[in-house]
Amino acid sequence: MASSLAVINCSQLVTLSGPARPRVGAELRELSIIADGALLVAGNRIEKVGTRDEIERLIENSDADCEFIDAGGRVVMPGFVDAHTHPVFAGTRAGEFEERAGGATYQEISARGGGIQSTVNATRAAAADDLVEAGRRYGEWFLRGGTTTVEAKSGYGLSLDDELKILRAVKRLDEETALSYVPTFLGAHSIPPEYRSRREEYIALIINEMLPGVAREKLAEFCDVFCEENVFTIEESRRILSAAREHGLGLRMHADQLSLFGGAKLAAELGTATADHLEHTDAEGIAALKSAGVQPVLLPGSVYALGSTRYPQAREMIEAGLAIVLATDFNPGSSPTPSMPMVLSLASTHMKMLPSESITATTVNAAYSLGRGDKIGSLEPGKLADFVVHDCDDYRDLAYFFGIEHPWKVYSGGKQAFAR
Ligand code: NIG
Ligand code: FE
Repeated sequence: MASSLAVINCSQLVTLSGPARPRVGAELRELSIIADGALLVAGNRIEKVGTRDEIERLIENSDADCEFIDAGGRVVMPGFVDAHTHPVFAGTRAGEFEERAGGATYQEISARGGGIQSTVNATRAAAADDLVEAGRRYGEWFLRGGTTTVEAKSGYGLSLDDELKILRAVKRLDEETALSYVPTFLGAHSIPPEYRSRREEYIALIINEMLPGVAREKLAEFCDVFCEENVFTIEESRRILSAAREHGLGLRMHADQLSLFGGAKLAAELGTATADHLEHTDAEGIAALKSAGVQPVLLPGSVYALGSTRYPQAREMIEAGLAIVLATDFNPGSSPTPSMPMVLSLASTHMKMLPSESITATTVNAAYSLGRGDKIGSLEPGKLADFVVHDCDDYRDLAYFFGIEHPWKVYSGGKQAFAR
């Protein structure tokens, strides 16, 4: 036995072991917790989970060297998988945040060239190294909060070179840091000002140059589109996503965030992996997602940070049997938080999700939405040893105590990535 690491004395080993597919309905509440549990790691993978007694006996009967971590009666869980983030950008939007605090709306600021466009201006002007540097800082924030994998969208470049610059930065962050990144091309995040009077040409640029360039360099696994009034129409979104599929990319969509625009229905028609946001999606849209097997990715951090009260209909989606995912939407405008525990808190207080449901939605279901369900998202033999020792003895504390950092130690691929 090539054992290297044993984590013992876990008050709750929250394994989320279960069927090898995203969880729905009552399954969302089944965390497969082992009381007084222990975890055995061999190299970068999970070798075995069990009670402390079982694991200790296994180690006694083997002659391999084993390092022990005493979790001290804490909760041990899979690392969070954050399936929707925009983590590579230059500058911040603290000034706009202050304006919004003074009464301006997100849409007003965007209409006068602020919003996404102000981050695009800063990101275009930034050197690749500076984007990686900023990304490293945010990457540490994710790890400190117990997140070990993030989906990472481009979308603040909006030219071939600048979109490639962002995706190459994502690649470097994935290779050079302990956080794992799943890259998504979001050239269709906004129409840049130089194309405002000729949007058709921007769509052509995405389809004829950006997508082939991204695919050639294998810089993205998914393609996303911001489908919304005054951004990309249903027809434009359909064309871009269909072209992306031709290049072998998986599909995701910003859908029905600011209005009931038909995004969820388009996601269902195209059979995308996910439809994200869904604050305005109605019963018909929910039914369409269900029949197409699309996973909803709900982002309460952006609802909160925009000062809105229109949270997505999580309970209706769970009732309908959707394999719900929760994520941060970390970005400099609508959701400047990398904190999954904050998302858990919002999901319980504003969306009536049980802490158990939210934990499933931020781990195993999120992993499946990224095509990584066989590798991460639960503590099962053979999966990557991405796990977190949280400084509490009851998993519900993660949603209950909010505004604090819970992790005591974070491991990525069996290696310590953060320790308090
Ligand atoms: O998911 N909806 C579009 N994109 C982001 C906001 C990006 C920004 O404001 O910079 C979102 O909310
Ligand atoms: Fe987003």
